[in-house]
Amino acid sequence: MPPEDEITPESTYLNRRNFMRAGILTATAAATGYLYRRFNAPPNVNSVPLELPDVPDLITANQSTTAPATAIEDRSGFVTDEPQTTFHDITNYNNYYEFSTDKDGVAPAAQGFISRPWQVAVTGLCRKPQIFDLTDLLKIARPEERIYRMRCVEAWSMVIPWDGYSLSKLLDRVQPLSSAKYVAFQTLFDPKRMPNQNSGILDWPYVEGLRMDEAMHPLTILASGIYGKQLPPQDGAPIRLIIPWKYGFKGIKSIVKIDLREQQPPTTWSAAAPDEYGFYANVNPNVDHPRWSQATERRIGAGVRDTLLFNGYEKEVAHLYSGMDLRKNF
Ligand code: MTE
Repeated sequence: MPPEDEITPESTYLNRRNFMRAGILTATAAATGYLYRRFNAPPNVNSVPLELPDVPDLITANQSTTAPATAIEDRSGFVTDEPQTTFHDITNYNNYYEFSTDKDGVAPAAQGFISRPWQVAVTGLCRKPQIFDLTDLLKIARPEERIYRMRCVEAWSMVIPWDGYSLSKLLDRVQPLSSAKYVAFQTLFDPKRMPNQNSGILDWPYVEGLRMDEAMHPLTILASGIYGKQLPPQDGAPIRLIIPWKYGFKGIKSIVKIDLREQQPPTTWSAAAPDEYGFYANVNPNVDHPRWSQATERRIGAGVRDTLLFNGYEKEVAHLYSGMDLRKNF
């Protein structure tokens, strides 16, 4: 990452007439990196216990499940024993441009965001398209604790204990057709509730996409909680996507629509800066961002470390990309 003094302060940067969207992630990373070291008063966070409608206890990832011995699931990769980032850091150092481009400004700006009731429409190439009320969506499978590394494209990282279930469980419900090759995701568009949607910082709503096999991979989850508490607004309440082997920007927040398609869907960051952010966005220390190295990362609260191929999930996911040129398909 470029040193901070090479970066235009964010306020100047955003006010420039000809500012390039492509640089926002870097500029805010540096500016808020500075703020991050300074702030110490935790803004209020939503610490409501995780909503568990009609479901038994949370399954912890280390725990053996009640599944019959014949249905053995490979649960490797579901947890890491690396020290977990504190709840305070996870909920006060955020990227959520609908609310703020300052990492420590997201929590206060998102504080009053009401995310219940909520609906998620699952549409497109499937036999049973459906609009799910959040309470029904949360009942589709028991939430499990997944302790994942999270690597942002800006070269910082965290270890986060999410609560959620594999996206495949939801997709199975709607019965995808064989013509469905991709899954497109969309964040809520409501400029009254998400104030930065009144600005042109990005094209709204925020959209993301996955190939079908990536979406069906057991590591890909819909998360509704952190540390056993409901997901706070700043982290993407009420429901967001987590794909632990990809850069954090693929993890779209506050999802309202999931659409099954034949063609690769557009994604917000690759549309804003196609030379800098690709559709795949697999964590790769050997493919630098055009403006900074991806070889190392700053683990929030825990120093600098080497970045791992596929963020350390190579064993689980490398086969999805066999034969693909990871430099071209970055
Ligand atoms: N989703 C939406 N809708 N808007 C965003 O600005 N930021 C992305 C991703 N999901 C973003 C989003 C980026 S760049 C990152 S690194 C992660 O959310 C950050 O998640 P966190 O704030 O919970 O750590």
